[in-house]
Amino acid sequence: MSRTEELLARMTLAEKLGQLTMTASSYAVTGPVIAGDSTESIRDGTIGNLLNMVGADHVNEMQRIAVEQSRLGIPLLIGLDIIHGHRTLFPIPLAETACFDPEAWERSAREAAREGAADGLAMTFAPMLDVSRDLRWGRTAEGSGEDPGLAVLMARAKVRGFQGADLSDAESLAACAKHFCAYSPVTAGREYAAVDISERTLREVHLPAFAASVKAGVETIMPAFTDLNGVPMTAHIPLLRDYLRGELGFEGVLVSDYNAIGELIKHGVAADLVEAATLSLKAGVDIDMMANAYRNGLPIALERGLVTMDEIDTCVRRVLQLKEKLGLFDDPYRRGAKPEAASAITARRQFARDLGSRCITMLKNQGDTLPLKPGVKRLCVLGPLADAAAEMRGPWWAAGAPEGQITVMAGLKAGLPDVELRHAAGVGFDDGDVSGIDPAVALCNGANALVLCLGERATMSGEAASRAYPEIPEPQMALAKAAIARARALQIPVITILFSGRPLVIPWLAENADAILAAWFLGCESGNAIADVLGGRVSPSGRTPITWPRAVGQVPIFFGQRPSGRPMDPKDYFTSKYQDVPNDPLYPFGHGLTYGRFVLSNLRVTPESVAERQEIEVTIGVGNEGAYAAEETVFLFTRDKIASVTRPLLELRRFAKIRLEPGESGTVVIKLPASELAFLGPDLESVFEAGDIEILVGPRADRADLLTASVHLLANVDD
Ligand code: IFM
Repeated sequence: MSRTEELLARMTLAEKLGQLTMTASSYAVTGPVIAGDSTESIRDGTIGNLLNMVGADHVNEMQRIAVEQSRLGIPLLIGLDIIHGHRTLFPIPLAETACFDPEAWERSAREAAREGAADGLAMTFAPMLDVSRDLRWGRTAEGSGEDPGLAVLMARAKVRGFQGADLSDAESLAACAKHFCAYSPVTAGREYAAVDISERTLREVHLPAFAASVKAGVETIMPAFTDLNGVPMTAHIPLLRDYLRGELGFEGVLVSDYNAIGELIKHGVAADLVEAATLSLKAGVDIDMMANAYRNGLPIALERGLVTMDEIDTCVRRVLQLKEKLGLFDDPYRRGAKPEAASAITARRQFARDLGSRCITMLKNQGDTLPLKPGVKRLCVLGPLADAAAEMRGPWWAAGAPEGQITVMAGLKAGLPDVELRHAAGVGFDDGDVSGIDPAVALCNGANALVLCLGERATMSGEAASRAYPEIPEPQMALAKAAIARARALQIPVITILFSGRPLVIPWLAENADAILAAWFLGCESGNAIADVLGGRVSPSGRTPITWPRAVGQVPIFFGQRPSGRPMDPKDYFTSKYQDVPNDPLYPFGHGLTYGRFVLSNLRVTPESVAERQEIEVTIGVGNEGAYAAEETVFLFTRDKIASVTRPLLELRRFAKIRLEPGESGTVVIKLPASELAFLGPDLESVFEAGDIEILVGPRADRADLLTASVHLLANVDD
């Protein structure tokens, strides 16, 4: 008999439910104390899993109680949200996506897993795979943006990175694909609100990344807090049981979100914890995080015949098997057993800097303001985000300490030692006090350039951080307007470094700053990465993975919209448009400038006609006619103009990167299996239809910048 079965046979009901319970920890001066009765509950085997512990000593202290003092000695599973690095913070997921490099995405997860594991953790609640097309939603920061295909690539990279090749390895963590599913299209972008979307959108946009994570072997999945078309995800039998476990064959652990089982009561589908626990157990949710619904509700549900012991055992079995795979039974202290080598920590820090600089997205660079010219000897650096170490962490900073974060000021000081820096915050984050603006603006006098560090503070994006006005806060705008007016009078250029966990609505700034760098949140090496770009050591290459609107009223705005029967025509009143704002975005998906000047030419697509089993080859010439070496990102989109259902105006199929010296040219070749052009037909079954497909290649999701060709699809042909 396996260890799991042997244990199951010996477990009391209370011990079984302990394995299905996860609770949070907090700290006392003398060591960790677990919320409420929990330390004692670990000892008596009625809590089997913990979240939110930091530090191998704390983790091991708790683990020792479970392993050495509980009746069955079952090790704890201990998890934490490691969203963008653990102690060494990397760019937030949205920022990281901007480098369009799946190997880098995997490496950052691997590095984070190493640090998390060195802290004794065995599980992380990441990656977040929610596709976000509504920037009002604060958790946009935690995902890979608007495109479902990117989310698929991110899912694969992150699962590989966190879990490694061997889950029992002391450097591997169990990943958790979250939040299953369609958490992002909450009503009006308001966190935790209801979700009502079509089956087509669900299947085309929100499910593919989860399917990819299961295929990549993800060990755990977290249902979303939200409901979907009337059924809360924590109790969604068709999606959790029939789709995830049935159709996708997911055999891992479903862990509820924080108190989500208890919240079934407020959703209005359960009268009490007994009913709530019954609903989620029936849907196959294995671990109850923080609701104590399983511990308190399932014994009664069992008594009433609402659930069976078999159903409970099935969940317990999955949890024990995960602990087994993680190697926790064989050596519960394997993670965190030895401190990391200093060289590994230094290399990780360097990686954070390189990655940070590659994620910076240059939105504007009028008159080649950047990189800073050698004549710049004095910089005026204003704004509350110029020297705020804790803010550089961005949302969900795991164990990242404020002291370890390099600010813009610190980065500029180190990176541009010959440049004199004058700095004032000018305004704060939380109060409307604008009395600091005038003295701050006065620092522009005598400077060769003005650098404004503006945007959101870390807590303005992330969970529960929806914003109806996703803009730069008013006091900062007052500073920007006064400082830019002074800069204009002094005829010095204005560079804006924009921090945010989402695109911001910045029409005025886009008009009035000479250069804008979207720094998102870059983590511990923020200042150094920004200085590398400003000083020209690195040519920016980040591309926005999400559309920047001109006005919040355009939201949701994304490149994959479907066509209208009355597309916008300025000469025709009765067409799809706004009266007060253009239809197009401020910056489209994929936008991002470099210090090079790239020219794309000679798009070729072969063969002219393809069957489903064949491959399409797309070739494009790229030349760098600028004065700096730089990296260009080339996107390949398709457009199926005539099909049995309306197809998106653009669909992203591939992207590729090419680095070219000044004056150099090269060729990008992309292969695309024709089968990927299949889509969900009128009855939501996959179809491969004959017809012409437009191939569009270029630097961003804007038709005006894309070269086009076409390929003919042949249906019902064997080869
Ligand atoms: O993992 C998170 C989740 O994304 C939101 N609620 C809390 C969980 C655990 O911290």
